[in-house]
Amino acid sequence: MTTHETQPRLISGLDVGTTKVAAVIAQVDDQGRLALLGVGCASSTGIRKGMVINVKETIASIEAAVEEAETQADVKMDRVYVALSGEQIRSMNNAGVITVSRGESRIPSTQEITEDDVERVLEQAKAITLPAEREILHVLPQEFKVDQQEGIKDPLGHIGHRLEARVHLVTIVSSAAQNMVRCVEAAGLYVEELVLAPLASAHAVLEDTEKEQGVVLIDIGAGTTDMIVYYDGGVRHTAVIPFGGNRVTNDIAQILHTTFQNAEELKQNHGFAKFPATVKNEEITIDGIAGRQPQATTQKGLSAIIEPRLDEILSLCRNEIRKSEVGDKLTFGAVLTGGGTLLKEMEEKAGEVFNADIKIGYPMHVDGLKDMASSPEFATVTGLLLYGLEHEDKYGVPKRPGGMSLLIRGLGTQVKDFFRELF
Ligand SMILES: Nc1ncnc2c1ncn2[C@@H]1O[C@H](COP(=O)(O)OP(=O)(O)OP(=O)(O)O)[C@@H](O)[C@H]1O
Ligand SMILES: [Mg+2]
Repeated sequence: MTTHETQPRLISGLDVGTTKVAAVIAQVDDQGRLALLGVGCASSTGIRKGMVINVKETIASIEAAVEEAETQADVKMDRVYVALSGEQIRSMNNAGVITVSRGESRIPSTQEITEDDVERVLEQAKAITLPAEREILHVLPQEFKVDQQEGIKDPLGHIGHRLEARVHLVTIVSSAAQNMVRCVEAAGLYVEELVLAPLASAHAVLEDTEKEQGVVLIDIGAGTTDMIVYYDGGVRHTAVIPFGGNRVTNDIAQILHTTFQNAEELKQNHGFAKFPATVKNEEITIDGIAGRQPQATTQKGLSAIIEPRLDEILSLCRNEIRKSEVGDKLTFGAVLTGGGTLLKEMEEKAGEVFNADIKIGYPMHVDGLKDMASSPEFATVTGLLLYGLEHEDKYGVPKRPGGMSLLIRGLGTQVKDFFRELF
């Protein structure tokens, strides 16, 4: 018996967000299902709009979240899937075409598509000219075309001469990705793969049927609003909008002359995304700051500050849905997740802007999700576990390393030098 078979198989995820760092550890059971072992959460101060702005603070937040998860799970986290977001993410659809290799066969009609052909066509599909500072983060296959036959999900074993792959490409500015990797490694962890945050969230909150018939997932965080559009089982569009719940809180703080922290409490306790006609409009008193007089407003007044900013954020989302070119075909409308969706009456507001079916997405598909980890704020980190499960074999070896893995692997010595300088 090898050691692989005696040790429990673990998968870990790390979401370094704008307000919180979340770490989770799960074990894969005999049936290939994930069971949650530990969850950790620490407040995050070194991240702005999904990107590292303070290395030391980010490392400290990661260490705190990881330690909490490890204590709860009673195991050490070593390798992790890490979520990545930020306004430097760009995406596009592209296609690649190859002639199927003839292999051993001399008879054209028996040219069977092999794994090697699929790899070659995906290489072709990602052969785009990128600015020097950019790297490809994901190549997400949408569908394949073999000769004249379209709509093939898995071309392996098909017979044909010409293989075409349509893909969705996600790119990132290398330094943004490297900064994240450096922080995670400095906290003593090995980065298995960087995963686009909304792609991870989609793994936790969406069902396959929704991805087939069309849906947009919108993860409203504190610093960014991340989107991913699925149709026909494939990713059609992704976008990162550089605003989230913090923008709403800032508006409240500015207009009501109060601190960010007070504004956050007002938003969470008294705010509505759309003030309902059936709710009594209660008075709210706001403490005066630095010797100023206390002020009075109402829940309706507070919501009148919140609503226009949400309209703006959701309208930007609507524009992105239009760009996807499948916006009018999304049977299951929009699924909203992330902490920003916890604002009261969010579904109603989103329904008004999108004029579509709206659902709040809670993390699923992992056993033992309870209390903290079942909240929409934990969609991304839970999704990382499911992404990991899908992308590695039963020994934890990645099935098909993505473009970004190379970038990460190449970092080793630079990382050590960087931290020698820092401390
Ligand atoms: N009960 C609530 N009502 C309203 N808003 C809330 C509530 N709870 C959390 N939020 C908002 O959710 C946001 C935080 O969400 P989340 O934890 O998903 O963000 P994050 O992952 O840290 O940030 P990002 O994804 O942008 O990097 C904050 O803007 C916060 O104000
Ligand atoms: Mg987030």
